[in-house]
Amino acid sequence: MNAAERHVPVMLERVVALLAPALAHPGAVFVDATLGLGGHSEAFLRQFPDVRLIGFDRDPAALELAGERLAPYEDRITLVHAVYDELPRALADLGVPAIDGILFDLGVSSMQLDEADRGFAYAQDAPLDMRMDSTGPTTAADIVNTYSAADLARILFQYGEEKFARRIADRIVRERETEPFTNSARLSELVRNAIPQAARRTGGHPAKRTFQALRIEVNGELDVLRRALPAALQALALHGRIVVMSYHSLEDRITKQAFAAGTKTDVPDDLPVIPAGHEPYLKLLTRGAERPTEEEVAANPRAASARVRAATRIREKGLVA
Ligand SMILES: C[S@@+](CC[C@H](N)C(=O)[O-])C[C@H]1O[C@@H](n2cnc3c(N)ncnc32)[C@H](O)[C@@H]1O
Repeated sequence: MNAAERHVPVMLERVVALLAPALAHPGAVFVDATLGLGGHSEAFLRQFPDVRLIGFDRDPAALELAGERLAPYEDRITLVHAVYDELPRALADLGVPAIDGILFDLGVSSMQLDEADRGFAYAQDAPLDMRMDSTGPTTAADIVNTYSAADLARILFQYGEEKFARRIADRIVRERETEPFTNSARLSELVRNAIPQAARRTGGHPAKRTFQALRIEVNGELDVLRRALPAALQALALHGRIVVMSYHSLEDRITKQAFAAGTKTDVPDDLPVIPAGHEPYLKLLTRGAERPTEEEVAANPRAASARVRAATRIREKGLVA
């Protein structure tokens, strides 16, 4: 299977429409912070013949596949193996002072889920790994075998929204004393057994939430996003646009807060005029978070939890707190 067959880009038309006004001029720079298999990027390169793409991914396997897919546009693309919070340094290295559009399509790619040996999928037995970049320091097994019951419960509850977090955490700690966890099937089975029978019938596979929580912790996903969004807003040129697609309520909340910081002024309400330099620097382009249509979810179940927010820079670069 090639990259195009493996992954259907989520909310593609809407994402293109939101970013298009910023990319229509010659020499526009578009950053894909989460290149994945290059589905969204390919659409931009096809639609905007003058756009230059800078694509980031922390997963070398994704970069390789996206590189093959985007080979026809080779003279307009720069692919960077980095975590997206390294954007400012990468732009400085490339001599790019400001960018016109940036897309974050968060989370894992379908390729990562499909490659059983990377341990992202609860439904297949594999080493408990879940690192998006396999040179990263911590695997899911390290977390499961070393974190305290309290820390495990916190992660499962916060990142997985798992109601039975404490029960699962206690059981993990008990069972790892007999033998450390190495594989996903044993953990998946433990979670299933820890959840009361009545609760197993709802909410999909019982281990789904635990696996999501571990993946977020392994890759430090929320901390990275918290650092990356202000940096991305800072890098946007005047009239530049940002689109963030989240798949988890905490990602969406971080995005909402990062955008809100730019749409408000930081001076007290009772000042008659806003002093120069303190005006809002962002305008929202979406009302709340936009969701995919029912038709899209029916055709591509991976779109089901997507939420899209977009904003545009309305004041010159350099003034983001
Ligand atoms: C949902 S996929 C993107 C799919 C892509 N939009 C497409 O159409 O093919 C997310 C990708 O972002 C990468 N990724 C996730 N977090 C990252 C981060 N903090 N820095 C860089 N890449 C990241 C993952 O490795 C994965 O390949």
